[in-house]
Amino acid sequence: MDLPRLHFQLNNRLPLGICVLNAEYQVLYWNDFFSDRTGQSLAAIQGQNLLEMFPAQSRYLKKKIDSVLVLNNASFSYWEHQPHVFPFSSSRPITGEETLMYQNIEFLPIESEDSSVHNVCLVVQDVTELASYFQAEQLLSAKLEQEGAELKALNEKLSMAQSQLLQSEKMAAIGQLAAGVAHEINNPIGFISSNLQTLQDYATRLLKLTEFYEKVVSKTGNDAYLAMQRDMQQRLQFGFVRQDLPDLLKESIDGIDRVSEIVKNLKAFSHVDNAQWQPADLVDGLENTLKIAANQLKYKVEIHRDYAEDLPQVYCQPNQINQVFLNLLVNAAQAMEHKGHLYLRAWQQNKDVCIEVRDTGPGISSEHMKRLFEPFFTTKPVGSGTGLGLSLSYSIVKKHHGEIQIHSTPGEGASFVVILPITGPEKTADLPGSEQLIS
Ligand SMILES: Nc1ncnc2c1ncn2[C@@H]1O[C@H](COP(=O)(O)OP(=O)(O)OP(=O)(O)O)[C@@H](O)[C@H]1O
Ligand SMILES: [Mg+2]
Repeated sequence: MDLPRLHFQLNNRLPLGICVLNAEYQVLYWNDFFSDRTGQSLAAIQGQNLLEMFPAQSRYLKKKIDSVLVLNNASFSYWEHQPHVFPFSSSRPITGEETLMYQNIEFLPIESEDSSVHNVCLVVQDVTELASYFQAEQLLSAKLEQEGAELKALNEKLSMAQSQLLQSEKMAAIGQLAAGVAHEINNPIGFISSNLQTLQDYATRLLKLTEFYEKVVSKTGNDAYLAMQRDMQQRLQFGFVRQDLPDLLKESIDGIDRVSEIVKNLKAFSHVDNAQWQPADLVDGLENTLKIAANQLKYKVEIHRDYAEDLPQVYCQPNQINQVFLNLLVNAAQAMEHKGHLYLRAWQQNKDVCIEVRDTGPGISSEHMKRLFEPFFTTKPVGSGTGLGLSLSYSIVKKHHGEIQIHSTPGEGASFVVILPITGPEKTADLPGSEQLIS
C-alpha cells in the first residue's frame, strides 16, 4: 500500500481542517478543508502569513500559537468561548440556514527530531451542528424557565386571590352576624340608656329630698328624732349609699355609652352607610383628621410629612375615608407608647392614590398580622380597644374598590398603606358590601 498517498487522501477527506505553520506563522500546509472554504489552493498560499490572511482574528490566533510554541503544550479553542475563529460558513441542521461555522480548534505542537517545537498544527472541527442543538436546547430551557416563572407567578396570584376571597367571605359572614347582634341589642341599649339618664335625675332629686328632711329634723331640735334618724341612716349605711349612688349611675351611663359606640361601629362595619360620594383631596382629609387625633399624638410623636405634589382628587366618601385615617392614626399613636416618629406619605401609583401611615412602634407579629382585620381582634386591655377599628377600615376601603396593605417588621414599627382608585368604584350603585344588612 502507498502510505504517503493514503495519508494525503485521509488528510483531505476527513471532515477536519488541518493547517501547519512555522514559528513565523507562515503556512507550510493546509488541506482541502481550508482550500475549499477559502478558495485558495495550498500552492497559492504556501509561505503566506496566516495572521495576515485572517486579520480579524489575528490577535487571538497569535496568542494561541505563541502559547504552544512557548509552552510546548497543546492549546484549545472552544466554540462557546470563541465561536468563529475562521470566517467559514456552514449550515445549521435544524433550520438548514447558512451560518458562520462554529469551530473547535486544537493547536498542537509538532516536535522536531531534537524534541524542540518550531511548528504548530491547527486542527479545526466544524461543530455547527452541536452548537445549533445546544443553542436550541438553551432557548427551549430559557423558554421553559420563563413559562415556569409565569406559572409560579400565576399560582401566587391565584392563591392570593383565593385568600382574599376567603377573607371577604369571612368578613361578609361576620358582618351579617354582627349586623344581627347589633340590631338585637340596639333596642335594649336604647331604653337602658334613657332609663339610666332618668334614674340619675330621680336619684339626684331623692338625695335632695333626703337632705331637706335631715334639715327639717335638725331644725326641730328634737333629740329623739335626731337619734332615730342617725340610727336609721347607720343601719342602712346611708352615708355610703349617698356617696356611691351618683358614681354608680355615672359608671353605668359611661358603660352603656361605650356599648352603644360599639354597636354604632358594628352597624358601620356591616353596612358602611350611604355617605356622600364626591371628589376629595386625600391629603387634606388626612391633615384634618390629624387635627382630630392631635391630642393623642401631641407630646410624644414627631410627625414627618412627604406628600407628592399635584395629587389628583379621589372620588370617594370623604367622611368614611377620614374614619379610616383616624383609625390608623390612633392605632399608630397607641402603638408608640413612648416617644416615636409618625411618617405620613402620599403618592400616585398608576390609577391609584396611596396614603401611608407608618410608625416606629413595636410592629406586629406575623401571627397577629393575619387577624388584624377580624372584628373584635385587639391586643389592647379591656376597655381601651374594641378591635373594630381595622375591620371597619377594611370594609370602607373595600367598598371603594381599594385595598389596605400592611408591612411590619416586629421591633421596627408598622406601615399601613391605603390604596384608592382615583375614579372610585366603577359603579357606585353596585358596590361590594353595600347590601343593606341593617335597616
Ligand atoms: N400601628 C400598629 N402597630 C402595632 N399594632 C397595631 C397597629 N395597628 C393595629 N395594631 C394591632 O391591631 C389590633 C387591631 O387594631 P384595631 O384598630 O382593629 O383595634 P384596636 O385598636 O385594638 O381597637 P379600636 O380601634 O376598636 O379602638 C390592635 O389591637 C393592635 O394589636
Ligand atoms: Mg384601633
